[in-house]
Parts: sequence; C-alpha cells; structure tokens
Amino acid sequence: MELRALTRLAVPAVAALLVLTSGCTGATVQGRPGASGLRDPYFPRAGNGGYDVRHYDLDLGYDPSDGRLAGTAVITARAEQGLSSFNLDLSGLKVEGVRVQGEGARFNRSGNELTVRPAKDLKKGEVFRTEVRYGGRPKPVVDPDGSEEGWITFSDGPDGADGADGRDGAVGVGEPVGSMGWFPGNHHPSDKATYDITLTVPEGYEAVSNGELRSRTPVREGRTAFAWHSPEPMAGYLATAAVGRFEVTTGRTPSGVAVYNAVTPGEAAGSRAILAKLPEVVEWGSGRFGPYPFTTAGSIVLPAESLGYALETQTKPVYPGAPDEELLVHETAHQWFGNAVSPKSWKDMWLNEGFATYAEWLWWEDHGGVSAQRRFEAFLAGDASVDPHAKGPWAAFPPASPPGPEEISDDPVYYRGAMVLQRIRQEVGDAKFFDLLRGWATDHRHGNASTADFTAYAQQRTGHDLKKVWDVWLYGEDRPKA
Ligand code: ARG
Ligand code: ZN
Repeated sequence: MELRALTRLAVPAVAALLVLTSGCTGATVQGRPGASGLRDPYFPRAGNGGYDVRHYDLDLGYDPSDGRLAGTAVITARAEQGLSSFNLDLSGLKVEGVRVQGEGARFNRSGNELTVRPAKDLKKGEVFRTEVRYGGRPKPVVDPDGSEEGWITFSDGPDGADGADGRDGAVGVGEPVGSMGWFPGNHHPSDKATYDITLTVPEGYEAVSNGELRSRTPVREGRTAFAWHSPEPMAGYLATAAVGRFEVTTGRTPSGVAVYNAVTPGEAAGSRAILAKLPEVVEWGSGRFGPYPFTTAGSIVLPAESLGYALETQTKPVYPGAPDEELLVHETAHQWFGNAVSPKSWKDMWLNEGFATYAEWLWWEDHGGVSAQRRFEAFLAGDASVDPHAKGPWAAFPPASPPGPEEISDDPVYYRGAMVLQRIRQEVGDAKFFDLLRGWATDHRHGNASTADFTAYAQQRTGHDLKKVWDVWLYGEDRPKA
C-alpha cells in the first residue's frame, strides 16, 4: 500500500537499458520496465519495482481429488513510474492469459518472474487492473533453510485417502517467499494490500482464508464458494488459503472481535480447550500492546505432521496440530508485531520474532510464571531449567544481522531478539517500556518498519540513549555478557 523508497532505487539501471533499446522505434514511449526485484538484502528478487499493489482479488478453485488449482488473480495497483512492462512473482503453475485494463497483454516467464507487457504503456500515477488466469498442480517452495512453504497438501481425516495421493487437504503459506507458489503478486512484505480471496471447493470441504467470511454460496456441480475479505492491509506472506474437512467453531472475544476456528477432524478434541483461550489471549494482548489491529481472529489447525512450523497468517494463524499455550500466545502476538507492523525487509525479522517471543515471556510473567527478567538471566547463564531454549545457540549471531537468508528463522532472531527488549526494559523501567511497546504497535499499525526505525523510535519515545544496547545486543558479534 505504501510508497517505497526501494522501488525508486531499483530503477535507474533498467531505465538506462530501455533508453538504448526503445530509442529507435519512433513511438511515444513513456514507460520503461519495472524492476524485477526490490533488492531485499536476503531475497533480492522478491517483489517487483514500478508499482504498488492496492488490492488482490483472488478467485481460486481447488479440487482435492486431483490436487489442481485453477485461479484468476485480479490485481489493482498504482504505477509508480511510467511502465512499458512490469513483473509479478509466480513459481510453477501455468499462466493461461493476462489482461491489463481489460486488454490482452503479452507475457513471458523466466524463473519465478512473470513479465507482463501491457498493450499500452501505463502512466505514472495510473491505477490499473491486471487479470492473470492461471492453474495447475502447485508445488511447495523450498526455503533457503530447507523448510517448505507455498502450497502444501496433507491427509485430512479418516477418508483422506480419496484425495490426490491420499492427501486431500491443502494450505497456502508464504513466509518468506512461498506465496508465489499459489498466486501471482508483488511478493515482498513492503507492499501491503487488502485482499478478497474466494475459494471454490467440492461438497464436504470447508475453505478458509484470512479475514471475514462474507458469503458461502452453492455454485455449479455441488461446489461451494467461500468468499473471504481482509479489509486491513496484509503482506503477501501472511495470506493463507486452507481446504479440508474442517470442523468450524465461531465466537467472539469479550470486546467483540469475531473468532473463527477451523480444525482438522483428527485434532478437534485435542484443540478444544486451548482454542477456548484465544479470546483471553487477544484481550490480554490488547491490554499490553494496544487495541487488537484486525476485525477478526481465529485459527486453522492442520494435522500435526502437515507442516514443519506454525505461521502467523493474518487473523488466522496456521498450526500443525493443536497449539500449546505458548504457541497460541506467540502467533497471536504476531498479529501486532509482524502483521500490523510489518518488516521493511527480511533482515528485520527480529522485529517479528523477537517481539512475539517476548510476548510469551510477558504472558508467563502475567500468569504466575517466571518474570521476563528471570528468563533473561537464565539465557545469560544457559540455565535450561527455566527455559529449554536458554542452552541453545541464542547468541550465535546478532539478531539485526543474520548471516544469510537461511538463518532468518534461527534462535538468535527469536531469543536474543527478545533479550534486546528486556535490556531496553532494564534501561528505561516498566512504565516507559510498556508505553514503548504500545506506541510502536499503534504508531506503525498497518505499515512497515525497519530496525533503524525501531531504534530511533525507542530513543525518542523513552528519552533514553540506548546506543550501547544496540551495539552489544542488536549488532554485536560477541556473546553479550550482561
Ligand atoms: N514465523 C513463524 C513463527 O515463528 C515461523 C516460520 C518458520 N519458517 C521457516 N521457513 N523456518 O511463528
Ligand atoms: Zn514467530
């Protein structure tokens, strides 16, 4: 949704090239190609330059019996420069046709880049619609750290064997770059947009996505279309779509946020008690971090072996098996930290994970467990009796500077990231610290922020010089001693 400095930086080299190649046509060419990446320090090709997406309208049909996805993505964006062509990120799948502003557009594919050449150049400032028809059998995207995202299938329930390879459930997850495995888009967290995701599935299946369920409509051949709407901006990696034989329960938090839980049948009994705590966790977070940033909350619980991790997909985190209390708190805390306030680049991952981990520490502190200070000390001492992660490699690298893309989800990002927050608390005291957490979540709500934004904000908000904390805890290579 926002104007990005990155976009403008990525352009000059490409522009120079275009001047050379288009000078001889004699036509009034005003556009040049948008950049094929946003130069993220760890995922340089993720996202694309030259435009800013406002809204995604995804209409997806999924057939669990053969694992085929058939989709139309309508992407409304604003041109940030004159564009002769622009890119979308898409991995695998077949593109059947592309239209821009209602007119057929040429396109070609290379790796994960789909290049679209509209019939007419787009003018700077123009808001334009791109329609991509695509489909096929989506494949998972493998992360630099070896974990899988994108489109993941799983066996759902006792008669799951009637699906493709016995796997009739499916879920789309995207952190960090898996969303390109199930829909074309500007797949970098810096370009947030609102979403409408409609999923059409056969009888017997439920289809779940982010936000609120607007309608559930019978359509052709006994299928049902589930129309989901996300009114608040969302980073693409937080979009989800899940198809399965889910058991659905709904409710409300004490302050009126609608709750929608979808649970795979095999986890229903084991999830009941923990999911009943979600309203309380949302309420607690609102007290600690400021009002819950979305109109809906909920969960998607998949079979335990379906995914290697839980993910904080916006308004409805995905869990492989029933979460425990700590994981429920962690993914709920991400709704403030990561989802409402999203990282400007993947280097800023500790702003997600350090904060969500610190939220767990606070939860225990507020609910009869050890204090965050005691836990901080246990990490320094490597005392696993207080926290099992204290003996882990939490100090292996500075959280604001993971060595590479394969480390952005490693221990230091989570635990040393959380310790940074406890160090700030030690310096400024509780009143200023909690004011800082709330202020950060509120002032950057529905936007993006970087580590530099945070350090500047923390100093300004608390009135303390925290340079030493940054030098030692955030950026220092050595294991901090205190
Ligand atoms: N953001 C998720 C969480 O902490 C974890 C995602 C792990 N992904 C990965 N590729 N290792 O809640
Ligand atoms: Zn997390």
